[in-house]
Amino acid sequence: MAFEATLKENLPRHLAIIMDGNGRWAKARMLPRIMGHRKGVQTVRLIVEECSRIGIGYLTLFAFSSENWSRPKTEVRSLMSLLKKYIKMEVPRMMANNIRFNVIGNRNDLPEDVAAGLDDAMRVTAGNSGMTLTLALSYGSRQELLQATKFIAEEVRNGLLSPDDITEELFSSRLYTTSLPDPDLLVRTSGEMRISNFLLWQLAYTELYFTDVKWPDFNRDELYKALANYRQRERRFGLTSDQLRSATDN
Ligand code: IPE
Ligand code: IPE
Ligand code: MG
Repeated sequence: MAFEATLKENLPRHLAIIMDGNGRWAKARMLPRIMGHRKGVQTVRLIVEECSRIGIGYLTLFAFSSENWSRPKTEVRSLMSLLKKYIKMEVPRMMANNIRFNVIGNRNDLPEDVAAGLDDAMRVTAGNSGMTLTLALSYGSRQELLQATKFIAEEVRNGLLSPDDITEELFSSRLYTTSLPDPDLLVRTSGEMRISNFLLWQLAYTELYFTDVKWPDFNRDELYKALANYRQRERRFGLTSDQLRSATDN
C-alpha cells in the first residue's frame, strides 16, 4: 500500500520511451533479430498496462523510425506484420483498460492494411478517457518539423496567418503531437545515449533517463526505477532552485 502510494507520487504526466535493444537481446541469445522484436512486444503489453494502472496520462512509444525503413527488407516486413498482429490483439485490452490509442508519424509510408488497422484502433478507442497510448510509427522528428514549417508557410502565403501569429503554441499545434502535452520523462533502453530523431521540439525540457537494460528485459521494476529517479529531479525550467521553492511555499 505504502509502496503504491509512493509510486504514484509525482508521476510524469507524459512518459515517452525509445524502446531499443531488441536486436542485441536476440543476438546475445543466438536468436534471429525478429525474436527480440517478438519479446519486445510482450514488454510493450506489460508496460502499457502498468502505466495505465498506476495513472500515467500519456505514454508514447517509439516503435519504428523513418530511418528504420532502410533496414533489411525481411526485418521491415516482419516488424510490420508484428505490428498488425499487435494492434488486432490489443484493441480489446485497450477497451478493457479504458486506453485511447493514437499514432504519430507518416501514415502514408505504412502498408495499407497496417494503416487501416491503426485507423480502426483509433476509431474504436476514441471515446476512452484513461491513458492515451501513442505509437510513433514511421516517425522522424526532423521530417515532422519540416512538414509543420511547410504547412505554416502555406498558411502565411494564403493570408490565413501573419508571421507574427507564429508562436510556440501555434507551431506545436502543427506537429503530429498537437493533442499531447510535452513529455515529462524520456526513457531510452539498451545503453544508447542519443535521441535518434525523436520528438526534438517536444523534448526541450524533458528529463532524460537512460538504462542499459534492453527493451525485451525491461519490466515493472525497471519502470519503477525510472519513475523513482524522475521523482528526485528538480525541474527548473531556467529558474533557480530558490525561485522554485518560494513558488511552492506560497
Ligand atoms: C528497437 O530495437 C526496435 C526498433 C528500432 C524497431 P532494435 O531493433 O533497434 O535493436 P538493436 O538496437 O539493434 O539492438
Ligand atoms: C530508435 O532506435 C528508433 C526506435 C526505437 C524505433 P534505433 O535503433 O533505430 O536508433 P539508432 O539507429 O541506434 O540511433
Ligand atoms: Mg536499435
